[in-house]
Amino acid sequence: MNNTQTNTGSKLLPVEPFDIVVFGATGDLALRKLLPALFHRWRDGQIPQDCKIIGAARSAMSQADFIARVEEHYRTYFPEEKNGADDWKAFSEHLHYCALDVASTDADWSALETRLADRDDKIRVFYLALPPSLFGPVSANIGAHKLNTPKARIVLEKPIGHDLHSARAINDAVGRVFPEESIFRIDHYLGKETVQNLLILRFTNSLFEPVWNSNVVDHVQITVAETVGAGERASYYDTSGALRDMVQNHMLQLLCLVAMEPPNDFAADTIRDEKIKVLRALRPITPKTATRDTVRGQYRDGAIGGKAVPGYDDELGRNSDTETFTALKAYVDNWRWSGVPFYLRTGKRMKERRSEIMIQFKRVAHPLTAPEAGHLHPTRLVIRLQPDEGVKLLLMTKDPGPGGMRLRYVPLNLSYADTFCARYPDAYERVLMAVVRNDLGLFMRRDEVEAAWGWIDGILSAWNADEMPCQSYAAGTDGPTQSAMLIDRDGREWFDDL
Ligand code: NDP
Ligand code: BG6
Repeated sequence: MNNTQTNTGSKLLPVEPFDIVVFGATGDLALRKLLPALFHRWRDGQIPQDCKIIGAARSAMSQADFIARVEEHYRTYFPEEKNGADDWKAFSEHLHYCALDVASTDADWSALETRLADRDDKIRVFYLALPPSLFGPVSANIGAHKLNTPKARIVLEKPIGHDLHSARAINDAVGRVFPEESIFRIDHYLGKETVQNLLILRFTNSLFEPVWNSNVVDHVQITVAETVGAGERASYYDTSGALRDMVQNHMLQLLCLVAMEPPNDFAADTIRDEKIKVLRALRPITPKTATRDTVRGQYRDGAIGGKAVPGYDDELGRNSDTETFTALKAYVDNWRWSGVPFYLRTGKRMKERRSEIMIQFKRVAHPLTAPEAGHLHPTRLVIRLQPDEGVKLLLMTKDPGPGGMRLRYVPLNLSYADTFCARYPDAYERVLMAVVRNDLGLFMRRDEVEAAWGWIDGILSAWNADEMPCQSYAAGTDGPTQSAMLIDRDGREWFDDL
């Protein structure tokens, strides 16, 4: 086994032997993210010798073909990783494949049962990289075939349904077979290094807590901008849209981590108890406020990085009203955040890939410098999730040197690339190992998912009631002009990196 560790300073925690069944193993998520993540964990010595990685999907395929497909996709998605044939050969000893229609009650589960049969006391992970409509049927089949052994866990990919009603139905169906403490609802953003650091930044530095409230904070911005389009996932994406695909889960989780009260400890449920209070404090967006406080957009053709890209409708092959961009203003109606707007925006085919949280503090009460000294900017804390992970505190300073008082706006910059190692695990590597270790803190509890859907449903029905149109924006821009207007109306502007 190759023991090259990912981080020079990191300590890899040992894991108990486990088997993992990846349902949907021939799909995009499995081939692009999950199986490469498992390979990287193997490379770091975290896949024990007797661990089985069993891929399952309907396609008839031999084990050798499956292994070749996994390797081929890995090499396509990670061209920079130079792994020898020996590494692949050793890793592929863990790989198995079962052709199986998981939704059919008549399907032959015997191949899977045989592969799992060796030890009932081993950790067993069922990862559902499947459309959510299959979460109920596959759970029922796992139960019917008595595969839910005491150490079995089930991992549900997002989206958990498409509204509150369907999310409840899925949670009920899975809950009939697995107890809540064995259900891991993935939000891979919670596995990102910088997202994890949010809790550490807030709660291990005494500097922040006294200023983390409506007395000092002017507003918060959360931006998740992508340059990719809906691409090959367009048929799924068209049933979802930016609000369901990104806001209901990733962005609301980020908002919770920024807005939550200090937990008593870092135990999974203590953190989840605090997050849910935030979700329940979100002011509902109604048909009356939706037109003013939300924007829907859809990209048309344009250019990104000098390369022409098609519009959403062209990618999809038909006209659609699904939003690929949304911006909105939210309020957390509690003591800490009273009156502080949280501006959220996310979109595909934006001018750059950039995910960040920006906390803007109030301006100084009484400016002392003359206007000629330069513009007085507010203090801003910018937490960059990706790329160029890091934390910046933007401050006013005196421009050094003679020639009178001149002001400069400069960052105190904690760049991960400069401060830490070159590579740290992908979010999926972290969440997969967290499942094996039974660490529920990185996953959403049933009540969280349902509270988030409850708030999103309000926006969706406001959009329906109002027939809110999708505003066009050219690919490679910051989204529709209505997004700039949403924040400009409040005398503020979207933060663009310095
Ligand atoms: P794909 O459509 O690419 O893959 C779906 C997989 O499920 C295929 O392997 C398919 O194989 C298998 N499958 C479908 N029906 C059955 C069935 N009845 N029995 C057994 N296997 C079946 O989807 P993705 O990989 O993109 O997404 C999977 C899930 O992950 C979805 O819920 C998606 O929303 C979620 N997700 C995906 C992300 C991504 O980046 N792709 C990101 C976040 C979440 P076959 O046809 O051979 O049966
Ligand atoms: C997924 C969404 O959950 O997150 C995708 O379904 C989106 O549409 C992706 O592209 C973004 O994740 P990341 O880690 O690339 O920011």
